Amino acid sequence: MKKISAVLGALAAAAVMFTGCQKQDLIVGFVQAGHESAWRIANTESFEQAFGKDSGYILDMHDCNGSRDLQIEVIRKLLDDGVDYLVIAPVVEDGWEEVLHEAKEADVPVILCDRQISADSNLYECWVGSYFVGEGRNAVNWLENYLKEIEWKKERTFIVHLQGTKGSSAQKGRTQGLEEGLRNHPEWKLLGFDNGNFSESGGYIAMKKIIASIGIDMIDVVYAENDDMAIGAVEAIRETGKEPGKDIIIISFDAGRRALELVKQGVINCDVECNPMHGPLVKNIIDQKEKGIEPEKIMNVKESLYDITNVDEVLETRTY
Ligand code: AHR
Repeated sequence: MKKISAVLGALAAAAVMFTGCQKQDLIVGFVQAGHESAWRIANTESFEQAFGKDSGYILDMHDCNGSRDLQIEVIRKLLDDGVDYLVIAPVVEDGWEEVLHEAKEADVPVILCDRQISADSNLYECWVGSYFVGEGRNAVNWLENYLKEIEWKKERTFIVHLQGTKGSSAQKGRTQGLEEGLRNHPEWKLLGFDNGNFSESGGYIAMKKIIASIGIDMIDVVYAENDDMAIGAVEAIRETGKEPGKDIIIISFDAGRRALELVKQGVINCDVECNPMHGPLVKNIIDQKEKGIEPEKIMNVKESLYDITNVDEVLETRTY
């Protein structure tokens, strides 16, 4: 009997030693901007999948509901809790210096995804996301070609601009693209603009306000800085009896499934892709860092542009 309990004791001790040597899952604090759009939901899901069960990581995800101040508060709490990595999807570009200094002092590596920030780049490891100015330029380029293709005869082209969250790099980049287009085309006129905060209800309300103040008849083009706002604007336009896509050219960004269905139906004329699949890229960066390999400072995701000529190519496989 004595012999048996001695053997069991040795086995238990070995098990404790073995567990003690096992690598603990690293904790990745993900400070998500919010849940304002279909794009954002797809972005969150891509992180949940990449850092899911058996990934070797525990994802501590926080939805900050579109508030930069809440993001900062959450980061401080995560630093207090002793996270191993911080992944931040910043709501806006400004206001990050102080809290990133705190992360640096705590020796917690910071990876930025989606939007950029205006702080010193030594305060973070790297950034993964879209080239928003390029997206805006692609949209403008598409409009130039489209107007030629349909032999647009009007002397002036009146554009309505629905902006995303003010001060975010997605808004700033796409707005810059349009502003460049307006400068290069004196015959293009900005008829009205409002902020729809990247949400469907925001786009609907902004479009309703613009229609109430300038009417619908003069509007030739709506440049909506994401799909959700474009879908909201489509509804507001339909309520006037006009046909979006036919009476008014609709340009959108993101190329999520719901909007691509509208491209297929000829309701949205052009959708510039914004790729939300950052999760696997960020996981790869952390995997590499764990092996001592430093990431590239800037990593742009692959993106395309869809209109009626190529939308079928993507619709079959688009999951979000
Ligand atoms: O920052 C990316 C943008 O934010 C996407 O275009 C938009 O849909 C999201 O809310």
